[in-house]
Amino acid sequence: MKGLFVTFEGGEGAGKSSILREVGRELRDQGYAVLETREPGGIRIAEEIRKVILNPAHTEMDARTEALLYAAARRQHLIEKVLPALERGEVVLCDRFIDSSLAYQGAARGLGMEEVYDINKFAIDDHMPDLTLLFDIEPEQGLSRIEANEGREQNRLDLEHIAFHKTVRDAYHKLAEAHKQRIKVIDAGKSFEEVRNSVQRVLDRFLTSS
Ligand code: TYD
Repeated sequence: MKGLFVTFEGGEGAGKSSILREVGRELRDQGYAVLETREPGGIRIAEEIRKVILNPAHTEMDARTEALLYAAARRQHLIEKVLPALERGEVVLCDRFIDSSLAYQGAARGLGMEEVYDINKFAIDDHMPDLTLLFDIEPEQGLSRIEANEGREQNRLDLEHIAFHKTVRDAYHKLAEAHKQRIKVIDAGKSFEEVRNSVQRVLDRFLTSS
């Protein structure tokens, strides 16, 4: 594989999506070919699956069903969009990937991180990210940012109890501890400028060493 696969992870309101766009712009200015994408979006089938998962009316959705739908959407997005871009040698910036399922479905929904890893392994084979940026923020701060940002759509998962988000955060910390090489923790509680600069430093180091 010639390209570079970078994923953006973190809890709600961590600002990863705005930073992703900014990073995309900067990398293009530096001459890189960049694909900006998000999970499970951008791909027709994956977008349809996403609508089913995030529909606030689907209160009866079983946790394993949810995990399987995320894994299915992930595979379709990987096959149709991410892998071809990597083959072309592009830098792929992806908003959420397998670690979201491990933290949200595995830990917060209580399915078990190993169990969720296993179904995701079936979905992605060996295509793990080269680098994962973990946007770390106190759930209270993240959620209050979302409330302040009226333009952002509220989804079923935003409505979950604060304890859910704390479990998500703890799970991300565990993943970062277990995969120090791949996962770099960014303090997302700081200002946009500061967060962008930390991300830039991590990326520069990574791009010059790979
Ligand atoms: P989205 O509107 O994309 O929110 P964000 O800007 O926070 O990424 O909604 C994605 C939601 O889906 C978010 O609450 C996290 C959740 N999610 C999972 O629970 N598991 C997953 O595998 C993925 C990709 C997302």
